[in-house]
Amino acid sequence: MGDYSNMSAYYDAIMTSGYYDYQRIVDQLLQPCFPEDLLEIGCGTGLILEEIAKRNTDIPITGIDLTQSMLDIAHDRLQSYPNIALSLQNITTLQLNRQFQMAFSYGGVWYFVIDQDKEPMLVSHLYSESDNHAGLRCLADHISPQGHLLLGTQGPHFNYETTITNGMQYSQVIEPSEFGFTKHYYLKDCTQRVMAQTVQYRIYGFQDALELLASYGLHYEASDLSAEQLFIRFKKC
Ligand SMILES: C[S@@+](CC[C@H](N)C(=O)[O-])C[C@H]1O[C@@H](n2cnc3c(N)ncnc32)[C@H](O)[C@@H]1O
Repeated sequence: MGDYSNMSAYYDAIMTSGYYDYQRIVDQLLQPCFPEDLLEIGCGTGLILEEIAKRNTDIPITGIDLTQSMLDIAHDRLQSYPNIALSLQNITTLQLNRQFQMAFSYGGVWYFVIDQDKEPMLVSHLYSESDNHAGLRCLADHISPQGHLLLGTQGPHFNYETTITNGMQYSQVIEPSEFGFTKHYYLKDCTQRVMAQTVQYRIYGFQDALELLASYGLHYEASDLSAEQLFIRFKKC
């Protein structure tokens, strides 16, 4: 399901210690120009939305997430931006009663992993096949005709431990599972574990992913699949 409650208090410290480069993400997201409106699925603590807001835009932006404690942090972070609305929603039952010219997810519900010359794969926070169908159906319903979906790309996942900016030790352990992998996230303060969270991910091969998205009217716009490219684009037709 992708609940991030255990991690939320430490999420910003982990992510801003080099896990994601938010300026670069937003530089690419807003190329070639700002959309008329924007939906982020799995917006977490609002780090991407804040980076967008800092660029002097007043376009209407909505962020949705299923983890209340992540959204609470996003609310505090984004309270001075009246054009940003946040909503506690699971993508599988998303209901906002409007459509957006652009929807995106970076590390949120769905993302692609690009690993050198291997086939890219789609990683989903939704482990069951039926939830992926329900989520994509709801998402597609919220994108205007001719609108776009941008799904973020990342490098391959591997096991490691590193010290983050607050001095704690972050580590992650990945185990294969029947339909994807299980990822364990840990944080230690000296010898004491202060956070542990496990998320199950489902994986789709690239062609299967394109077919799955296309079955909901979200068509791949062929693009450079190098690690430099932080988003893969789909058009709603
Ligand atoms: C790795 S975080 C990414 C947050 C943010 N996009 C960022 O870049 O910092 C993944 C987020 O997706 C949310 N999420 C996972 N499954 C979801 C679902 N089914 N519906 C809505 N949000 C979901 C989690 O609660 C979490 O906040």
